[in-house]
Amino acid sequence: MKDSIKVFAPATVANVVCGFDVLGFAVNEPGDEVIMRITDKSGIHISKITGDNGRLPLDPKKNTVSVSVEHYLNYIGRPDVGLDIELHKKMPIGSGLGSSSASTVAGLFAAKNLLNDMTDVAELLPFARKGEEMACGHGHADNVAPALLGGFVLIRSYEPLDVIKLPHPAGLYCAIVFPDVDVPTREARQIIRTKILMKDAVTQWGNIAGLVSGLFLNDLDLIGRSMQDVLVEPVRSMLIPDFYEMRQIAMESGAISFGISGSGPSVFSFTRDEETAKQIAQKLQQQLASIQINSNAYVSPINDEGPKILG
Ligand code: HSE
Repeated sequence: MKDSIKVFAPATVANVVCGFDVLGFAVNEPGDEVIMRITDKSGIHISKITGDNGRLPLDPKKNTVSVSVEHYLNYIGRPDVGLDIELHKKMPIGSGLGSSSASTVAGLFAAKNLLNDMTDVAELLPFARKGEEMACGHGHADNVAPALLGGFVLIRSYEPLDVIKLPHPAGLYCAIVFPDVDVPTREARQIIRTKILMKDAVTQWGNIAGLVSGLFLNDLDLIGRSMQDVLVEPVRSMLIPDFYEMRQIAMESGAISFGISGSGPSVFSFTRDEETAKQIAQKLQQQLASIQINSNAYVSPINDEGPKILG
């Protein structure tokens, strides 16, 4: 039996513009890595975190990875097992790319495989949500579900949890740009309106249904015209530098869609091919540079695999 394992889990784009808290998909990069070892001493220990600039707690009672893994160990009846965790952050924190989810999912997937536990991967979802709850005060599943299951995911219901994997057109590419400004999810959730107009609700559910239909029908035009958000984007876009300028650039450069990734500040576009995605990412970075904002860019197809064992 292995006594150590290295796991990667992917970043995710939650909301997918119109589906606040109910839609998300995984991408190939960026993502986080966890190295986990079985130790003689019972309990969870975090020996190392890299790539976080000292922002994440090493205390296993306060870290989302260890807290999720602890819940899972209790569930499988192995609370006394000794585990050492190294977390290697390979993506920005507070970016709107599901940073805490990638770490948490990597930790849970590592524990399951290291302990040769037969629990179905989908059953890890409630434990991953515990991590989200801790990270931002709310256990939304639209980052953790695609990080765990891969692909495009719909959270049809939270109580009871009902998660559905959706198909997506082959060849769909995603350009993501992270403007280097911090937007904590907890705060980005607090500014959202809690009451909405019926006419806006009608627009929004029409768009969600349109997007899901477009995914099933392989209809990129339908996907594009459905990816509009009248509820959350008008408020959150204020936190993102040059949001509307970036939208114009992306749409004039051949994007199918443009919007906020998760709670921002990252933005993303769907494109019909990799080359267009690369060009859009580059132009958006140029726009941000022109207003002295550093940025990172990622170009990826949709990641259908979810977490994977690296060694
Ligand atoms: N659905 C969540 C939100 C995703 O928009 O707050 C956070 O990444």
